[in-house]
Amino acid sequence: MGADLTVVILAAGEGTRMRSRRPKALHLIGGRPLIAYPVSLAERLGGRLVVVVGRGSEDVRRALGDPTDVHFVEQKVRLGTGHALKETRSACGNGRGTVLVLPADTPLLSEETLKRLVDRHRGSGAAATLLTAVVEDPTGYGRIVREAGQVTAIVEDRDASPQQKQIREINSSIYAFDARHLWPALEQIGAENAKGEYYLTDVIAVLRREGRRIDALLSDDPAECLGINDRKQLAHVAALLRTRTLERLMAEGVTILDPATTYVDDTVSVGPDSVLAPGIVLEGATMVGAECSIGLGCHVSDSRLGDRVTLKPYCVLTQAIVEDEATLGPFAHLRPLSHVGARAKIGNFVELKKSRIGRGSKVPHLSYVGDATIEEDVNIGAGTITCNYDGVKKHETRIRKGAFVGTNTSLVAPITIGEGAYVGAGSTITKDVPPGALALGRAEQTIKEGWATRRKQRQKADDR
Ligand code: UD1
Ligand code: CA
Repeated sequence: MGADLTVVILAAGEGTRMRSRRPKALHLIGGRPLIAYPVSLAERLGGRLVVVVGRGSEDVRRALGDPTDVHFVEQKVRLGTGHALKETRSACGNGRGTVLVLPADTPLLSEETLKRLVDRHRGSGAAATLLTAVVEDPTGYGRIVREAGQVTAIVEDRDASPQQKQIREINSSIYAFDARHLWPALEQIGAENAKGEYYLTDVIAVLRREGRRIDALLSDDPAECLGINDRKQLAHVAALLRTRTLERLMAEGVTILDPATTYVDDTVSVGPDSVLAPGIVLEGATMVGAECSIGLGCHVSDSRLGDRVTLKPYCVLTQAIVEDEATLGPFAHLRPLSHVGARAKIGNFVELKKSRIGRGSKVPHLSYVGDATIEEDVNIGAGTITCNYDGVKKHETRIRKGAFVGTNTSLVAPITIGEGAYVGAGSTITKDVPPGALALGRAEQTIKEGWATRRKQRQKADDR
């Protein structure tokens, strides 16, 4: 598909209707910026890729990971879609082949449809082939004007006559052009319209006047052509995208108890026989293995879960790794760079930060573990805190294999608890504990025989 193909993505628009400080191309949908969708489609098609950027162009480049194989063209003044495309003339190369134009704001467009458009364009030898759709409510879109079935022009919503407004076949803003005819035709468009902009859509009437052939591919899924100009359309398209993602997961063998309240980014993968409870969010680069159970209200971002992992309700994980058969929660909080080993158990109200929990180890209740390495088969008692911060710096805690830390212990880092060592409940530990030792860091208990009885007798005497 790539030979003789140039894909131009128009992403310089002001996005005025979003009422945002952020360029429209960078608004997130399904976990990715809008611009990422056409760029990944273009990459799959192959060929030369040109992206027109405007305001916030540096941010757009960065959001795409500063790709070296993309030609960025800056449209310094935004004079419309026709002007934007004209600006790419030299970046597009030799003036031959097919120029495929994509807007930045139609993320539901599929690779199959695009391929069909390009194939049809090449097969028919038309000067331009448009992707169109028939929609219920065409308000805001350019309308496809046909005479005797042939496309003769596109008229913008603002410039349309009352009769033209009745047309329900819309322009998707996705076009394949024959480069030889496109560039000269672009020189001829003007800005005498309601917006005072150079409309790319006008190039169709120009080509037609020159007697060139215009072809159109009517999309069989109009949703693919939905554009996002404002926040309402953003929410609408995001909901459609979400449904598509959930349907993909279900087809791959994932059980979703309540699709209406399950929010999974387009970028997430989930293994077969995993079960997703209601009210969960799986975001970004998250990967969930097979046969996992993700409980009610869990929020997982950029994390990797192995197979048969259980998240009980209300766990929050960010940039964490959880290995096979580990169990977390309810109410566990894994902050960035936490790594929970296989079959480990992290219980309720436990916060982990930048810590490694070894295979089979347990942190079952009410603990804070930060900057710590806990080896295998360690038991951490309820209410244990790693005191990792001295007000200036962070320090590390190491707990070796098989150690046992009693309830309500403060481990003042930097500190090491040796292999198989015990720490008595209620201790404040400030010195390293050797392997196999018992450490007690608490006031020794004293007993005063008969004290309470004598006190009671004294009170009785006073009352008399
Ligand atoms: C455009 C089409 C309309 C079509 C609709 C489909 C025109 C004049 N109209 O309208 O027929 O039905 O898309 O969604 O083309 N852009 C630039 N530079 C500019 C202006 C826009 O790069 O100076 C980019 C935008 O970032 C956007 C794309 O071009 O990605 C389309 O612009 P937008 O303002 O969204 O056009 P619509 O009003 O939606
Ligand atoms: Ca648009």
